[in-house]
Amino acid sequence: MLSCWLAGVCFFSSVTLWHIPVSTALSYTVVPRNVSQDVGKAATFLCGVSPETAATRVDFTIYRRHGNYSVLCPGEPLSLPSQGLNGYCEVKGEELRAVWSVAYNSRKDNGTYVACRPTGLSPAFAYLTVKENSSYFAALIGCVIGGFVGILAVFGLVYLGMRRSERFRKCLKGQTSQDDLSTITEQ
Ligand SMILES: *[C@@H]1O[C@H](CO)[C@@H](O)[C@H](O)[C@H]1NC(C)=O
Ligand SMILES: *[C@@H]1O[C@H](CO)[C@@H](O)[C@H](O)[C@H]1NC(C)=O
Ligand SMILES: *[C@@H]1O[C@H](CO)[C@@H](O)[C@H](O)[C@H]1NC(C)=O
Repeated sequence: MLSCWLAGVCFFSSVTLWHIPVSTALSYTVVPRNVSQDVGKAATFLCGVSPETAATRVDFTIYRRHGNYSVLCPGEPLSLPSQGLNGYCEVKGEELRAVWSVAYNSRKDNGTYVACRPTGLSPAFAYLTVKENSSYFAALIGCVIGGFVGILAVFGLVYLGMRRSERFRKCLKGQTSQDDLSTITEQ
């Protein structure tokens, strides 16, 4: 009776264990995210799904002004050095990941987007927004403010100098002769 019961439990658990990976539906582990990046910087898009089985396929496509490129995972990487573009696949345990990396953003890359299409899941999209280099703007603003403050400082010093010489002149007025005063004002 006990052995029968044990056999039942064994049979049930083996069936359950066998069924867990099969019945676990494919789902996103990493949904590609929008990237906002400065001109000249790198941008990376990721798309991950789990669990990775023999049937798992991920089509990760990048849509650029120069053209559209796809990596199919699992599969061969795609490298376009002239465009600083790299697409590849990674397997991390149960997870299958597709990656697109753009080495140097240019203004033309603004609006580039990726589409991740795993078989059996709805596609996911993410966009690249290229920003004007913020350090360039910081430098520009710094120069404008610095220049303005500099001009104010020069005017302030000139004004102070004038007041001081005036006070100096008034101070001297009582004690010095007209000759001395005229030489001072000439200077
Ligand atoms: C990503 O960007 C697109 C287009 O700019 C926008 O429609 C979408 O809502 C953004 N998604 C997220 C998660 O911010
Ligand atoms: C890239 O794909 C988009 C959307 O399907 C299409 O409109 C565009 O013409 C394609 N570009 C090239 C260069 O094939
Ligand atoms: C990129 O596009 C966004 C809106 O689509 C715009 O606000 C931004 O100024 C653009 N960046 C460049 C560098 O043109």
